[in-house]
Amino acid sequence: MTFIKIHTAVCLTMAVLLAAPSAFAASANTNMLKRHTGSGDPVAGKEKSQICQGCHGMDGNSTDEMIPKLAGQYDEYIAKQMRNYQAGTRSHEIMNGMAAPLSDKDLGDISAYFANQPIMKGNGSTTNEIGKKIFLKGNITQMVMACAYCHGATGKGLDPSTAMYPVIGGQHKAYLLKQLKDFREGNRMNSPNAAMNKTLKALSDSELEALAGYISEQ
Ligand code: HEC
Ligand code: HEC
Repeated sequence: MTFIKIHTAVCLTMAVLLAAPSAFAASANTNMLKRHTGSGDPVAGKEKSQICQGCHGMDGNSTDEMIPKLAGQYDEYIAKQMRNYQAGTRSHEIMNGMAAPLSDKDLGDISAYFANQPIMKGNGSTTNEIGKKIFLKGNITQMVMACAYCHGATGKGLDPSTAMYPVIGGQHKAYLLKQLKDFREGNRMNSPNAAMNKTLKALSDSELEALAGYISEQ
């Protein structure tokens, strides 16, 4: 197959996986974007999220590598994950219990609080060229779509109309690596149309490690 044909095949496959955004080029200024896109009340959410702050950090920057940062995460993504934990479509022994008692209103308010915090960030270095290459360009021979296409060039998301694609740039490396492995192995199945499961299927342990390294530094 010629490059064009392979490229077309990859694009078509990915288009089926998920109607991915076409706004990759417009992702430059994402640090300034509003991530509180729902109707939740961040002031009420601050109060309601006391227990969450105990693990995820007061401003959503957790210190434990296995507890994800929520600072500047899209509120719609946070609320969706909580509904997934409630429904059992995403499983974690602590989080299933934490999510269970919360009403939709509580979820909206708590998510708004974390979305309103200054966005999570890594140390800003780029020491991982393999991870960077896969993130920005994908891997055409393995039909791996560029992560940046959905998550933005530095993993900070694209724009508020695509709040379903989470902020991942600057997230803890150990947490990222666990999620990447869980998706690849089918232990986490809550991404729309299994997009993440399909994207990661062909990647090796060392490639996932490289990706987690690169993303966490952003
Ligand atoms: C005892 C510690 C603890 C508490 C308290 C806690 N969490 Fe978590 N949370 C975790 C851990 C650990 C994970 C990672 C779970 C996984 O790997 O699926 C997590 C995952 C999450 C995620 C998924 C993040 C992502 O990027 O996908 C969200 C959202 C979340 N927690 C929100 C909350 C909210 C809201 C509360 C309060 C109602 C809360 N958590 C309370 C430990 C905690
Ligand atoms: C077609 C769009 C798309 C592409 C391409 C894509 N992702 Fe995702 N990704 C998503 C969506 C949507 C979710 C949220 C899934 C959910 O709702 O649970 C997600 C979730 C994630 C998460 C979990 C975040 C968290 O906080 O738990 C990680 C990590 C991730 N993606 C990394 C990657 C990497 C690395 C690549 C490239 C190899 C990639 N993604 C390519 C759409 C995409």
